[in-house]
Amino acid sequence: MNEALKLQRHEDLSMKELAALEELFDSEYLSDYGCWNPEAPYGYSPADFHVLAFQGSVLAAHVGFQRRVILVGTDEILVAGTGGVLVHQRFRGTGLGGRVMRHAQKAMREEAETDFGFLGCRMEVVPFYESAGWVQVHATERCLSPSDQTSVIVSQGAPTLICSSTRDASEWPNGDIDLRGTPW
Ligand SMILES: CC(C)(COP(=O)(O)OP(=O)(O)OC[C@H]1O[C@@H](n2cnc3c(N)ncnc32)[C@H](O)[C@@H]1OP(=O)(O)O)[C@@H](O)C(=O)NCCC(=O)NCCS
Repeated sequence: MNEALKLQRHEDLSMKELAALEELFDSEYLSDYGCWNPEAPYGYSPADFHVLAFQGSVLAAHVGFQRRVILVGTDEILVAGTGGVLVHQRFRGTGLGGRVMRHAQKAMREEAETDFGFLGCRMEVVPFYESAGWVQVHATERCLSPSDQTSVIVSQGAPTLICSSTRDASEWPNGDIDLRGTPW
């Protein structure tokens, strides 16, 4: 089947692409988390760039990211906060997730011109991100709760990963992380 990877800015998503995204996310999360909302997906921060992977006419995978200046120690860092990483069940285990991540990482660097990619995930998927070149950082993290967008969550130990963008991952500064908003 023909595979096509496409980068789309959030405001340029067509009605057809929005419907395809809704179908992809609802196929995975509707029963546990309700309907997908493009402006606040499950309470998380929305993407301002989307990488869409089509297999023929089917939307088979997605990665989203949002530009945001966060605080790390005393440094202000421009990250591509990454979320909505999802491969349709039918297409998993074929390397598609890795290809979509690489495409997103190129866009973080060349289109969004962010310093680093940034994401949080469950422990079990850390090897997936590591295989796409992401590295774990260990720090106390402060963010707003996706449940109400106002209460502050301070966590330590939940996996946080970064990737090189315009700056090399080895330059990530030490210090506590303040996301200055909800996570992605
Ligand atoms: C996680 C997910 C995106 C992986 O997509 P995929 O297309 O199946 O992954 P790939 O085939 O590209 O796998 C690339 C590598 O990651 C590893 N990997 C894939 N899924 C993994 C998982 N769930 N846990 C750990 N490693 C995984 C593969 O073994 C492979 O390793 P290799 O490079 O050493 O061969 C997909 O399973 C998915 O959409 N899951 C549900 C949503 C989700 O959990 N998203 C992450 C939210 S943080």
